[in-house]
Amino acid sequence: MEFSCPFLMEMVFSIPHHTCLGAAWKVANISEGSKVVIFGLGTVGLSVAQGAKMRGASQIIGVDMMQEKCEKAKAFGVTDFLNPKDTDEPIPQVINRLTGGGADYAFECIGDTGMVTTALQSCCDGWGLTVTLGVPKQKPEVTAHFGLLLNGRTLTGSLFGGWKPKSEIPSLVEMYLKKEIKLDDLITHTLPFKDINTAFDLMKNGTCLRCVIHMPEIEGFPMAGN
Ligand SMILES: NC(=O)c1ccc[n+]([C@@H]2O[C@H](COP(=O)([O-])OP(=O)(O)OC[C@H]3O[C@@H](n4cnc5c(N)ncnc54)[C@H](O)[C@@H]3O)[C@@H](O)[C@H]2O)c1
Repeated sequence: MEFSCPFLMEMVFSIPHHTCLGAAWKVANISEGSKVVIFGLGTVGLSVAQGAKMRGASQIIGVDMMQEKCEKAKAFGVTDFLNPKDTDEPIPQVINRLTGGGADYAFECIGDTGMVTTALQSCCDGWGLTVTLGVPKQKPEVTAHFGLLLNGRTLTGSLFGGWKPKSEIPSLVEMYLKKEIKLDDLITHTLPFKDINTAFDLMKNGTCLRCVIHMPEIEGFPMAGN
């Protein structure tokens, strides 16, 4: 890269952030004034929210089981936070009510194929588009009533956001350097290597978005970025 970007930010750019901006901008091509629902508000979901906000979405509903995600989500553009634990109503029904007929775009950012079905059900008839980003650890098959597709909804996926790394990533880094996109807030913790188990705990209990681990310097092998 011809310009100077902090090494840590290059790392964050390497996957989660550009993937999700790409999912919002290139894959879904979110249009101004549209209604968006995002399932899962980790780094992936928050970056999709940022992409949707920058595209001028009028409503961005974030769904997450962890109440702690609410505040950060609002900072990334989420307009309505929904915790499935707070309602007995099926989530697609809640989304349908909040959006007045279903979302124009739904993003699955958890890695749960059951949620892919929920996302598809939360879209509107006619043109509702579901983009699946999560990578499931179990049950890879997606099941859905054929009528959802027959009624004009589309299901697609996004891996790495559809960017051409060599020609397009530098322009994203430039946007970050000009403070047009928010990235620093995705790094919530910085720990030395000896505390790596704490980092895993933080990741598992959901208090952490991205944690940077500092490796001890070994003589003769200077760390990248130094
Ligand atoms: N497609 C790609 O290019 C790409 C790139 C990076 C990561 N991923 C995948 O995206 C997914 C998300 O990554 P992340 O780093 O944001 O993960 P994360 O664990 O930080 O975030 C997931 C969020 O989903 C929430 N969640 C879990 N189960 C839920 C449920 N049933 N209902 C509502 N919310 C629920 C969690 O509370 C958490 O906030 C992972 O599967 C990851 O492997 C895909």
